[in-house]
Amino acid sequence: MALPGQSARSLQAAQASPSSSSVDGLELAGRHILLGVTGGVAAYKAAELTRQLIKAGATVRVAMTEAATRFVAPATFQALSGQAVFVDAWDERVPNLMPHIELSREADAMLVAPATADFLAKVVQGRADDLLSTLVLARDCPLLVAPAMNRQMWDNPATQRNVAQLAADGIAVLGPDEGVQACGETGFGRMLEPEVLVEEVIAFFTPKVLAGKKVLLTAGPTFEAIDPVRGITNLSSGRMGYALARAARQAGAEVTLVSGPTGLPCPVGVARIDVTSALEMHGAVLPQAVDADVFIAVAAVADYRPAAPETRKIKKTAAGGEAMSLALVRNPDILSDVAALPRPPYCVGFAAESHDLAQYAESKRIKKNLPLVVGNLIADGFGGDSNRVILFDAAGAHPLDTTRKDGIARAIVARVAAALAS
Ligand code: C5P
Repeated sequence: MALPGQSARSLQAAQASPSSSSVDGLELAGRHILLGVTGGVAAYKAAELTRQLIKAGATVRVAMTEAATRFVAPATFQALSGQAVFVDAWDERVPNLMPHIELSREADAMLVAPATADFLAKVVQGRADDLLSTLVLARDCPLLVAPAMNRQMWDNPATQRNVAQLAADGIAVLGPDEGVQACGETGFGRMLEPEVLVEEVIAFFTPKVLAGKKVLLTAGPTFEAIDPVRGITNLSSGRMGYALARAARQAGAEVTLVSGPTGLPCPVGVARIDVTSALEMHGAVLPQAVDADVFIAVAAVADYRPAAPETRKIKKTAAGGEAMSLALVRNPDILSDVAALPRPPYCVGFAAESHDLAQYAESKRIKKNLPLVVGNLIADGFGGDSNRVILFDAAGAHPLDTTRKDGIARAIVARVAAALAS
């Protein structure tokens, strides 16, 4: 996220670790978010946004404009956030009558969602004629805004000028999205969905250790067709690869994910190429690998594929009896081929083993010529949300004490970034 003019002090302070550790816990644990809600119909989505920010571990305080209360009652936000909601600059619940100072000082970041065209204009001008605009002006923390308005209002040169000025002032402008609007028109102006905004807030707090780097990953299983309705596959869920793609993007990388068949949604901001078979995965990866800085091969690629897949469904009778056999041929090793490029990216391999993990992982590292292998015992987590892994590099074996896949992903990203930096 580009924050050209954001004060270095605010940004650094915001990206510093929160008081409580989030390495293995919730990603916004210990973060205080001041959520500003302005008067647009997307205000109803701010209720869900509040819930999701809290679910991610944040403490959320809500301040609304008078117009926002016409769309959603403050009581909704109070119930969801568990905190008093502020609308009035003269609110007597604040003993010194300075809610604009009180509320902004405890915040690690301020997010205005939805932000109307009028509110953006006010921020650009530095006006402070209600509590929320005063909070923006008096804040001592980074500001993120999620515009939401009719497409014509968004396209208006006045709004476009204001948005350019906000960016120049170091304010993060998130979205808007394109699509059908409440007014029935279609175009740019929809507020980003709450889950996307939460991802952006998490990314905002993540130090950009992979800024400017291109990261390529494979994830999921492959599916090797036997006939039009059958195939050989495996139980890989794709979760670890997707978590790594997400962590790399949050760390500032440009991420391409070549994915076998999974039911997982594409992580926000990640370019995904969908493939089915190992050969397709190989064909999608190699051209991308040439200019990648990092290649992380997480996919559980089938080692063999049927030598001659049938174009028509195989019938029991055709097999001729109680048994049948299937001729298989070796698939190319994608990771080995990338590692053997004349100028290979920093390559990370995975080794999921049922036994003798250290021995197999280390021999894979040497054989495939990899600087880093992530090893795990299948019994410790294949297909689930958690895992227990050991990193193997030239210096030896390093067990990770984190077990959630998002925590493991962040730890691997940190190690890769450190390796690239040295
Ligand atoms: O040799 P093995 O399959 O155990 O190695 C696992 C590692 O190699 C994983 O990182 C996997 O993604 C990668 N791999 C690959 N292409 C293959 C087989 C494995 O990229 N055909």
